[in-house]
Amino acid sequence: MGPPDPILGVSEAFKRDTSPKKMNLGVGAYRDDHGKPFVLDCVRKAEALIASKQLDKEYLAIGGLGDFTKSCALLALGADSEVLKSGRNITVQTISGTGSLCIGANFLSSFHSASCDVYLPKPSWGNHTPIFGDAGMQLKAYRYYDPTTCGFDFSGALDDISKMPEKSVIMLHACAHNPTGVDPKPEQWKEIADVVKKRDLLVFFDMAYQGFASGDVDRDAWAVRHFIEQGHNIVLSQSFAKNMGLYGERVGGFTVVCNDAEEAKRVESQLKILIRPIYSNPPMNGARIAATILNTPDLYKIWKVSEFSLEWLEEVHGMANRIIKMREQLAANLKSEGSTHNWQHVIDQIGMFCFTGLKPEQFSVYMTKDGRISMAGVTSSNVGYLAHGIHAVTK
Ligand code: LMR
Repeated sequence: MGPPDPILGVSEAFKRDTSPKKMNLGVGAYRDDHGKPFVLDCVRKAEALIASKQLDKEYLAIGGLGDFTKSCALLALGADSEVLKSGRNITVQTISGTGSLCIGANFLSSFHSASCDVYLPKPSWGNHTPIFGDAGMQLKAYRYYDPTTCGFDFSGALDDISKMPEKSVIMLHACAHNPTGVDPKPEQWKEIADVVKKRDLLVFFDMAYQGFASGDVDRDAWAVRHFIEQGHNIVLSQSFAKNMGLYGERVGGFTVVCNDAEEAKRVESQLKILIRPIYSNPPMNGARIAATILNTPDLYKIWKVSEFSLEWLEEVHGMANRIIKMREQLAANLKSEGSTHNWQHVIDQIGMFCFTGLKPEQFSVYMTKDGRISMAGVTSSNVGYLAHGIHAVTK
């Protein structure tokens, strides 16, 4: 018998609990202020539009739906991207972020010219370890989170990066670092990009939360775009689970930035060979929804006038803002409970998660064992109980 999954196993335990006060802060899935799963209005509208077209159910191409992959790359790299203009990227549709990372890890394991070491931040998303390990890569770590400040260990990270063997792969979370909610500032990203360049490392960006960190899709893609501007040929995983709330639809993208369009074609051919025996081609429904929301060659202009797209950006903003409000309310409630600890990091950390520093305790509050809580599971009505519970175990 194998152990339950460290994140999804928490949801299973939550379902078994009969307490009326139970709270699932384990999995990173957005909830509204009544604690209910949330389907964006723009998604509902896109679904209705797709249904009205009575489209066929033929297989997609191995690399997925073209309308989707084009917009997916545009969303990440930006309308002014030189990479897109020169066609030196290849973007394939993947089975959400996990599928994207898995394809990326297996691609690098086969084709990255140097050693297959991959450096993950300490800590990183729990699933990174089996994904890269199963692909046959050697897992290493660099310092990232400083528990004494509950913030970013900038000097530790730089020091570790400067010692990585040349041509190693470094995993960077593009925004809203999971599990810590701690991101480098732009000035720190710049220095990281310089050191990464000096070491000639290959950057693997995981961008699962674009729009979810700041509520602004461009701001959240800043690090990705900066690295590319500095001449890094990155690889990139994207997920539409969080920012479009398409969790179970499994919509994602994997992009390789190449030297030129010709190399991009060759990489594409190898990605297709890799994908075909695993799942043949990706599912169409979620990609159609995302493409309907995003789709146009001139994405940014259309966003300003498109009902769906503008609505989407407003809804992303709304989700990000509710989480920010819950951070403030949780810190305020802890104070009124009489807690004398400094809870500023609850407010300062960004994105879906808060790395609380708590140890596992039984309060019918479900969180991962590393003390991560999904702020998206906190609501106006349960924030008081949560503060009470946290205070009780930290007095
Ligand atoms: C999480 O970290 O909770 C999410 O990314 C969901 C998952 O698949 O782990």
